[in-house]
Amino acid sequence: MGTLTPDFSGTNVLVTGGAQGIGFELAKYFVDAGARVAVLDRDPDALKTAWDGTDAVRTFALDVADSAAVAAAVDEFAEWAGGVDVAVNNAGITRDTVVWKMTDEQWKAVLDVHLGGTFAVTRAVIPHMRRAGAGRIVNVTSYTGMHGNVGQANYAAAKGGIIAFTKTVAKEVARFGITVNAISPNASTAMVAAIPPERLAEMTATVPLGRFADPAEMAPAVAFLASEQAAYVTGIVLPVDGGVSM
Ligand SMILES: NC(=O)c1ccc[n+]([C@@H]2O[C@H](COP(=O)([O-])OP(=O)(O)OC[C@H]3O[C@@H](n4cnc5c(N)ncnc54)[C@H](O)[C@@H]3O)[C@@H](O)[C@H]2O)c1
Repeated sequence: MGTLTPDFSGTNVLVTGGAQGIGFELAKYFVDAGARVAVLDRDPDALKTAWDGTDAVRTFALDVADSAAVAAAVDEFAEWAGGVDVAVNNAGITRDTVVWKMTDEQWKAVLDVHLGGTFAVTRAVIPHMRRAGAGRIVNVTSYTGMHGNVGQANYAAAKGGIIAFTKTVAKEVARFGITVNAISPNASTAMVAAIPPERLAEMTATVPLGRFADPAEMAPAVAFLASEQAAYVTGIVLPVDGGVSM
């Protein structure tokens, strides 16, 4: 088998939720491929630990649901880097419980981060991409957003909403040379570590490839969607999930 050699030199990439987990691996992949990267995350300590001393990275400690803070960060990064070419909406949380026990806070927190954050970043980056005449937006959805999952009505609604949002914005911005796609991951991260062991064992048994991925395995798929070569791919959800969604 051959390998792809990514080259993102001269490319400005924004990743949300990039202090750890999948977002960290995505940001690292782009940095290693020569990009300038903005990492937006609400956890300032994790941001420091992950990125202090990496010259190609600007970090922004913020809540992606805070649209004013997002807009300011996007403009500051664009000024520093000379534009925004790629945006990856990856930040996410879970607040699991069955719907009849779900509090307003649990419902709102999940919708605000996933849907509110994806909206805020997308709205803020489009003017920069329009100016450049090109752009790539990659959103992170989930199997749960397509098929549902007990205890995750808030998360399923948010991730399903991200799919609908992806397709709508893809249609809106196609004329500007901007593509909008999503991935549906399955990877061993803190979010997965929070799942009770017996439930996790059941979930692993449903993965045709027999394991949860290393989060770094998500990066080449995102890089493809973020590349020039993916110019004719828009509005899709690419499962990077070991076959779970077959
Ligand atoms: N791990 C999986 O198998 C899996 C499966 C499907 C979807 N996803 C999605 O992948 C994405 C990344 O998940 P992960 O597994 O790496 O989780 P993770 O918990 O390891 O990382 C999430 C990151 O997002 C940040 N974050 C959370 N809320 C934020 C906010 N309001 N503003 C800014 N940053 C915020 C966190 O600080 C953290 O750094 C999420 O959208 C998640 O829903 C993950």
